[in-house]
Parts: sequence; structure tokens; C-alpha cells
Amino acid sequence: MKAIILAGGYATRLRPLSCSNPKLLFPIVGVPLIDHMVNWLGEAGVDDIILAVNHLSDRLRTEIGPERLGSRITFSIEENPLGTAGPIRLAKDQLDDEPFVVVNGDIVSDFDLKHMIKSHESSSAKATIGLTTVRDPRPYGTVDTNNSGMITKFEEKSKVRKRHEINAGVYILDPSVIQLIPPAIACSMERMIFPKLVEENQIWGWKHAGYWYDIGTIPEYLRANKELLKHYRPKRTLKTAHEEATTTVQREAAGQMSGSQLLERRSAHAETNPSATIKEPCYVGEGSVLHRGASLGPGAILSRGVAVDGGTRVRDSIIFEYTSLGRNCVVEGAIIGERVSIGAGTRIGRGAIIAGEVNVPSHSLIKQKAVILN
Ligand code: GTP
Repeated sequence: MKAIILAGGYATRLRPLSCSNPKLLFPIVGVPLIDHMVNWLGEAGVDDIILAVNHLSDRLRTEIGPERLGSRITFSIEENPLGTAGPIRLAKDQLDDEPFVVVNGDIVSDFDLKHMIKSHESSSAKATIGLTTVRDPRPYGTVDTNNSGMITKFEEKSKVRKRHEINAGVYILDPSVIQLIPPAIACSMERMIFPKLVEENQIWGWKHAGYWYDIGTIPEYLRANKELLKHYRPKRTLKTAHEEATTTVQREAAGQMSGSQLLERRSAHAETNPSATIKEPCYVGEGSVLHRGASLGPGAILSRGVAVDGGTRVRDSIIFEYTSLGRNCVVEGAIIGERVSIGAGTRIGRGAIIAGEVNVPSHSLIKQKAVILN
């Protein structure tokens, strides 16, 4: 089965971190979002993935390549943003004449996609939408269903203030739905196409009971990392890490890697000096190095290739890939983008965000909630 991942938005709500880093490459517990998504789709047998992107997404194309975790990746490139429906019409010739999955490129969840696909196949609906319940549905689209599980109402950016089911941004569509989307113009699935299908009683709502995060805003991005980190149980001795790496590589080839195996494999080659202190939960990505006397955690998440120098303390923070922290720094409750260099003796306050590719001079004091732009 094929899937389209919608990844051509501008991610304005994740600025400044998204200025140099596309949302799909944002690390979720140290591993790029795209890998969580490809792995999750692959577990359901969906291993042919079309990334619907815009013409500015060179970095995405270079980094992701034509193959990822055993799945084939192709790109569908928009000259102008086509919204959430237009890209599906644009990718028409890349799809087969059978149902396909569409997913927003900012979702992390443990949706039982296999079951959702089966449930779509046994329903008579043209579309199946994954539903999840959230405490505050206002930023999302609320959905009402009838007793037989068909969707009867959609409301984008709803005014409902209490727990409610929402559209989780995961769909299975019959090819006939593509005909409803006008070609070559921006068009919204949620505002224009789904309401039409609701009128025809053609959308089945599939209820998801596990975790679900839309990482499209900084608070939700932080929440996803924090909560998912709690479920990660690292094996930190080098020998065990190596053994684990071997078994998970084999499982990956068989397309059966669970989310935590994905994380474990990606952290298997981190180097930790024995005199570094780690207070769990923490995540140390592949190729990251903790030097003598560095102190990590709780709640520190390092992506791949991060270097933490001696005497530096990092807790409750997310550090993107290839960033280096000089000696005797203190980083607490911050997010630091990719390829940043933090000079020795710098203190970074809670809630601070440092954009990618910034050089912070030694002995800087970055105040709480400060935003440092590139
Ligand atoms: P904000 O600018 O912060 O609202 O983020 P966004 O642009 O990503 O928009 P939003 O979160 O509403 O989009 C949901 C999903 O649809 C994301 O994965 C987007 O990448 C994707 N998306 C939004 N607009 C387009 C578009 O015009 N083309 C494509 N291909 N994807 C889009």
C-alpha cells in the first residue's frame, strides 16, 4: 500500500527552529520525525511513501533520499502550496488504483494502522479518518460520529472547550476521492473535501486509543518529547548496546522494528566517558559524545553527533544534531537547534530557544525564555 505524507507547509509555529530545519527532520527523542513515521507506516505494511513537499524542500530531499528504513521514498513537488488536498490530486499519477494512506507530516502516534486499514476495507466508506480525543480541541478540527461510526459533522478550529474527538490527520482514501479535488489549486481536505463526503455519508471514523501528538507547535513538540522519553529504557553498557544494535538491524530488515527499538538502535553508538553522570530518563543519539565530567539529565535529549564537553550540565532540554556544548556550560529547560556551537561557560535559562546554526560566544548568559535567532 502507498502513503502520502503531507510535508509542504511552512511550519511557522515552530520558528525559529524551523527556519533552517524542516519539520520532518525535527528530532523526536533524538530521532528525526520522518524515521518515526516511516517506521510506523512500515509496521503496517505501508512501505511505498510519497512525500508531498514544496519547491523549497531541497534539504529534505537530500537528507531523506530514495530509501529509508527499508521503504521506498518518492517526492511530489509543488511549485505553489496546494494546501492539504491539492497535493493528493497532484500525486495522482504516483498512486495505484487502490486505497492509500494520507498522513500529516507532523504526527507521532502509535495508531494501529494495520487495523485501521482492515476496518476501511470492510466498510463501504470512501474515506476513513483516524480520530483521537484531546482535552482541548480548539486548535484542531472536531468530529461528530453517529451510532454506526460514520462521521456526521466536521468543525475546523472548533469552539468546543471540553474533551472531544478530533481529526488526527491520518486518513485512508479510496482513489475515487481524488476526483473530488480540483487540479492545480490550493484546496483543504478538512474544509472542502471532507464536508462533501460527510453529506454523502461516506466517511467512517476510526477511533484511536493510544498516544497521539501533533508536534506543530513548540509546547506540543516539547510535550511529545517529554512523554515519549519516559517510555524509553536505554541499555547503556557498550557491550549490550552493540548486541542490541545487531538484533535491531536484523528486525529492521524484516520490517518489524518497534518504536523503542528504533530509538535503541540509533543510540547504540554513542560514547559516554565513564566519569560522565547520566540521570535517567535521557536519550543520547548515535555518534554523540559525553566527555569526562559531563552531566546529563534527567530529561536531556541529545540527537545524533552532539558533543558535551567536560563539566557541562544538561537537563530537561532538547539538543538537535551536531551541536556542541563547550566546557562548564549549564543548559536547563532549553531547546537548541542543529549545528549550534555553544562557547565554554555559557548559561542557558529555562524556556530559551536557540535557532539552528548559531554560534554562541563563550561565557554568554542566555536568559529564561530568550529566543536567539540565526
Ligand atoms: P504552520 O505554518 O505552523 O501552521 O504549519 P504547517 O504549514 O505545517 O501547517 P499545518 O500544521 O496546518 O499543516 C498540517 C500538515 O499539512 C503539515 O504536515 C504540513 O506540512 C502539511 N501542509 C500544509 N500546507 C501544505 C501545502 O500547501 N502543501 C503540502 N504538501 N503540505 C502542506
